[in-house]
Amino acid sequence: MSLSFFGRSLLTLLDYSPEEIRYLLDLSKKVKAESKSGKVFRRFEGKTLALLFEKRSTRTRCAFETAFGEEGGHPVFLSNADIQLGAKESLEDTARVLGRMFSAIQFRGFKQETAEILARYSQVPVYNGLTDLYHPTQALADLMTLEENFGDAKGKTLCFTGDGRNNVARSLMIICAKMGTNFTVITPGELNPDDELRKKCAALAQASGAVIKVTPDIAEVKGADALYTDVWASMGEENKKKERVRLLSPYQVNQRLMNMTENNGTIFLHCLPAVKGEEVTEDVIEGPQSRAWDEAENRKHTIKAIMLATLTKIN
Ligand code: CP
Ligand code: NVA
Repeated sequence: MSLSFFGRSLLTLLDYSPEEIRYLLDLSKKVKAESKSGKVFRRFEGKTLALLFEKRSTRTRCAFETAFGEEGGHPVFLSNADIQLGAKESLEDTARVLGRMFSAIQFRGFKQETAEILARYSQVPVYNGLTDLYHPTQALADLMTLEENFGDAKGKTLCFTGDGRNNVARSLMIICAKMGTNFTVITPGELNPDDELRKKCAALAQASGAVIKVTPDIAEVKGADALYTDVWASMGEENKKKERVRLLSPYQVNQRLMNMTENNGTIFLHCLPAVKGEEVTEDVIEGPQSRAWDEAENRKHTIKAIMLATLTKIN
């Protein structure tokens, strides 16, 4: 089967088939091996990338900027203090202008709709580098990290404990449902992922064989191959912090919870940044089961893979 990526955006991961995700993961591994070999490539020479950030970032910005720049591309960082992003000029007009000057656009911000409008009006690939609803490039790096540890992530069980309705949990649910990885969201009922997404993922899981569960019961970590958590209050939700601490304290990933998997091989994942002492204890994130730093590195390889696939004639 021939796959076609050229010119496409990455907005949610719902827009990519399991075969396409498979291809991107394999390409990410190839890109990682290339980077370790020290060989220099210039596959983005003559290309430009706009990096639009309404929210802060360390990993996503640095992954896009270094992956693109080291292959000869020219990335331009633009925070919303620098450009008109719906202020003084419509978003549609900004998108049209950016599309005339850049080969592609990365957007990190609040509304998913902004990423979608940018894609529609710029006519160049738009990569969602995190919105309130989705974090698709993170989920690709997470699957890659699972595969590095287990060979194959199909049939393995990933448990996410914490804010079950946040962008990271939602994107993990999508990629696991598509790729046949069992996914359990352990969260208090108030923070359940929405029904619409759960229905979509249930249908995807039927096709892949994944088991997707949502439960408030932390005992459900039993047997998990990986425990994953994320901050209790995402960017833009800082005013909910007190309430989240109350709701999510019982869901902290600590050594006791790691032991409750009753699986010696369980690994710990976190998208980072982490608030140590809240969603995860220092001993777990710094301990031998943690793969958080490999996971952070894999952001760069997966991001390079998606840009190679959509901007060059590699596939
Ligand atoms: N995981 C992640 O997206 O990190 P940043 O917020 O630092 O980009
Ligand atoms: N859920 C977090 C992820 C950060 C990478 C946030 O949106 O702040």
